[in-house]
Order: sequence, then structure tokens, then C-alpha cells
Amino acid sequence: SYPVLIDCDPGHDDALALLLAAGDSRLRLLGVTTVAGNQTVEKTTRNALRILALAGVTDVPVAAGSARPLVADLTVAEDIHGSSGLDGPDLDGPVVELAGVHAVELMRRLIVGSAEPVTLVATGPLTNVALLLRGHPEVVPRLRRVVFMGGSTDRGNTTPYGEFNIVTDPEAADIVLRSGLPTTMIGLNVTHQALATDEIIAEFRGMGTRLGVICAELMTFFASTYRQVFGFEHPPVHDPIAVAAVLEPSIVRTVAAPVAVELAGTHTRGATVVDLHHRTGRAPDADVAVGLDVDAFWRLLMSAVRRLG
Ligand code: BDR
Ligand code: CA
Repeated sequence: SYPVLIDCDPGHDDALALLLAAGDSRLRLLGVTTVAGNQTVEKTTRNALRILALAGVTDVPVAAGSARPLVADLTVAEDIHGSSGLDGPDLDGPVVELAGVHAVELMRRLIVGSAEPVTLVATGPLTNVALLLRGHPEVVPRLRRVVFMGGSTDRGNTTPYGEFNIVTDPEAADIVLRSGLPTTMIGLNVTHQALATDEIIAEFRGMGTRLGVICAELMTFFASTYRQVFGFEHPPVHDPIAVAAVLEPSIVRTVAAPVAVELAGTHTRGATVVDLHHRTGRAPDADVAVGLDVDAFWRLLMSAVRRLG
């Protein structure tokens, strides 16, 4: 089984990413860390704890991380995820206590302590991951890969060309992409194919478990805000695709490409400039997802949620 760490900002789709990681025994979830993004770090941390409680996960350490991006000011996504960061269902409170260390320190300890190289899955702004790589370079050779949800090979969702996780902390994304580590970028160009349709929501509800109903309620809320903000008929379920790409790499098709993060830019700060046609002559920075097996993805997610009961 693969040892993984998840750094997240739950968030409706982050919640599903946590459930996928918790519900598939091929992954060994070493720890969960949180970052400010969709909501403040206090709220994303509480949400991570509440989702893990719901999944019956009580033996995985959780630590809160960065309250703000490296350079930018924090702008949360309340319009999409609500004032709690996880609006919709009635969730119970946390059952486990936080590990009494900062997220970056928890990641460091778990990576250094792992016999096997660790895969780091990031589903929020890359603030904690950047601090880890810069502050503790000794972890770099002990990481197998960083798989992050963020960016896009085409348009954005927070600005015309910028995706939320990268726009929130562009400097952090730049540090991670230039770290020399193998990285996989799961951008909007693929996540916009995994839509929580009415059939998907009905499948969650039809599981007949509390968790299934809560997933249905989460996706119903997510659908309502995506309709309001973007006019989308069905919301894209971004973050669990990053976990799926670790579980079953064949679910995404990737191409190695140079990826630059626009740090200045008059209109495009936070855009990921993906050189798919190798025009810059630069070496690749990431394996960039360009295709998704949508059916295989949903099968994986549904069986994980069903298994958690
Ligand atoms: C990303 O932004 C967040 O709102 C989601 O959780 C996802 O990680 C999509 O742009
Ligand atoms: Ca997220």
C-alpha cells in the first residue's frame, strides 16, 4: 500500500478526496494537514476533523497549517463553499484532537519516519507544501511525488485564466513546481469532466447510509452555488481526482510539460502557463493531466464511500 499525506482545505470536493483516501485500502493515509483557502484555516481544520469522524477514521494525525498565503492576502471561496466551508448537511463535531504541531512539522515527521517514499496529495493552495520543501529540504528525496489539484491548461475559474488554488497562493505553487520533485498537475481542464450530475447524487443517496446521504447533501449544496456563480448545470468535483490519480494512475492521461506560474501579469497573476507544444524549450516541470476516465473515476469514488458504510 502507498503511504500518502493529504494537505487540504475542505471544502466540498476536498471532503470527497478525504473519503476516497480513507475508503480505499490501497492507500495508507499517514496524516491530514489543513491550509487556509476555501475558508479560514480554523474552519477548514474543523471540517477535515468532521469528515474524518464521519468516515470513522480516528487513528490518523491531523494538524492545522498556514492561516494565509506566503505573499498574497487570503480570499476565501465563501460563494462556493458557504460560511462554514462545508455548508449543506448537518455534520457532527470532531472526535479526535489535533496533533499539537503545525502542519508543516507533522508532514516533516511523517515523511522522515516513513520506511517508504511518501506521496503528497495537495487539494488546496500550496502554502504548506512550499513551506515544507523550502524549510526542510531533507524531505525532498523521501517524497515520491506531489500530486496537486490546481491550475489549468486552458481557462480559469477565479480569474479568467487563474484557478482558485493557484491564484490563492501563486508564489507557493511556483516553489512547488520548481522544486525538482516529480509533480502531477490535475487542472480544471480534466476536473471539469467529473460532474456531480443528478444521477451521481442519486447514487450517493441510494447507498442508504448516513455517509451516502451526507455526500448527496454536500453535492446538492455545491451544485446550487455552482449554478449561482457559474451558471453550470452540474458542479465539477475537482479534488478527489488527485487521489484517484495516485490510486489508479491510468485514470488520468498525462503529458510531461513545462509549467510556469504567472507571478506578475496585469490580468493573469496565478495563471498556469502550460507549454503543451514545447515552444519555450524549457524542461518539463510536471506531468500535466490532459485526459480523464470519468466512469472509472466515479466507480472508484463510489466504492470507497460504500466501503466506509
Ligand atoms: C479548487 O478550488 C477549491 O474551491 C476546490 O476545493 C478545489 O480544490 C478548484 O478550483
Ligand atoms: Ca480544495
